[in-house]
Amino acid sequence: MKVLVTARMPEEVLSLIGQDHQVESYDADPPIDRQKLLRSIADKEGLLCTITDRIDTEVLDRALALKVIANYGVGFEHIDIDGASQRGIPVTNTPGVLTETTADLAFALLLATARRVVEGDKRVREGKFQYWAPLLFLGQDVSGKTLGIIGMGRIGKAVARRAAGFGMKLIYHSRTRLSPIEEQELWLSLKPLETLLREADFVTLNVPLTPFTRHLIGSRELELMKPSAYLIHTARGPVVDEAALVVALRQGQIRGAGLDVYERESELCPGLADLENVVLLPHVGSATVETRTRMALMAAENLLAGLRGDPPPNCLNWAELMRNPA
Ligand code: DGY
Repeated sequence: MKVLVTARMPEEVLSLIGQDHQVESYDADPPIDRQKLLRSIADKEGLLCTITDRIDTEVLDRALALKVIANYGVGFEHIDIDGASQRGIPVTNTPGVLTETTADLAFALLLATARRVVEGDKRVREGKFQYWAPLLFLGQDVSGKTLGIIGMGRIGKAVARRAAGFGMKLIYHSRTRLSPIEEQELWLSLKPLETLLREADFVTLNVPLTPFTRHLIGSRELELMKPSAYLIHTARGPVVDEAALVVALRQGQIRGAGLDVYERESELCPGLADLENVVLLPHVGSATVETRTRMALMAAENLLAGLRGDPPPNCLNWAELMRNPA
């Protein structure tokens, strides 16, 4: 069968798919553009896409032969899942394999903002490290501080485990409450969102992007935070109203932010890059050799199962497909 792979992938993954199928792989950076995607999808039975490909009605209407959409990534807000279900197409993602790696990055941002790691590096490179003095270049302690985790799914829990090791006090806000045993293990206590924002010294966002979480953090929420607090964001850009964040950072409503994701990737909200109290990364939460390879293999296994007509291991809409066969 014919498969479209929309971005560069590890060679082992392309050969795995290529054993039984004909692969058209978009082997360049940046990944495939919209027009090419629309042209190439027409005769494909399999699609291995990434979080930057918008798989909407326009794409699905052209994909008349499509049997499976395997997303390389855990977030799937860029795929019209209902549209795929109506056409009988399973959609898969890559949960679990990037949890620890993404939590590591959230923690890297937390430490980098609190201890001014990026500013410090810049200062040394610019030749401005001339002497040591007791009150120079002070950051903030992390241990003993309160971490407010918004979203207590796999990644939220992995952030909590790291924070416990740093001696932080942990509070969380989530749609679903953890079991008492899970709460006890990490000394986690559930709080209403407003209370969490008022009490936390650091706030991490670990929710998926849904209609409920879009602009979950806007000017009102930023005003509730302590002037000494930091916002750490590795989820999806639109969860934060970025223009409101720039105002809050500029006016000192909060002390700093560490961002890996942006509202309109890869554009930045005007003014964001001029601020000294932010650390900005290019959406690299899962970007390690090991994790990106695991994600690619997982996406390939999902794709191959879908092409065989088997239930793919990480299918997001299998129950829906079984309930309402197309
Ligand atoms: C995901 O899997 O959704 C990540 O954002 C990709 O790094």
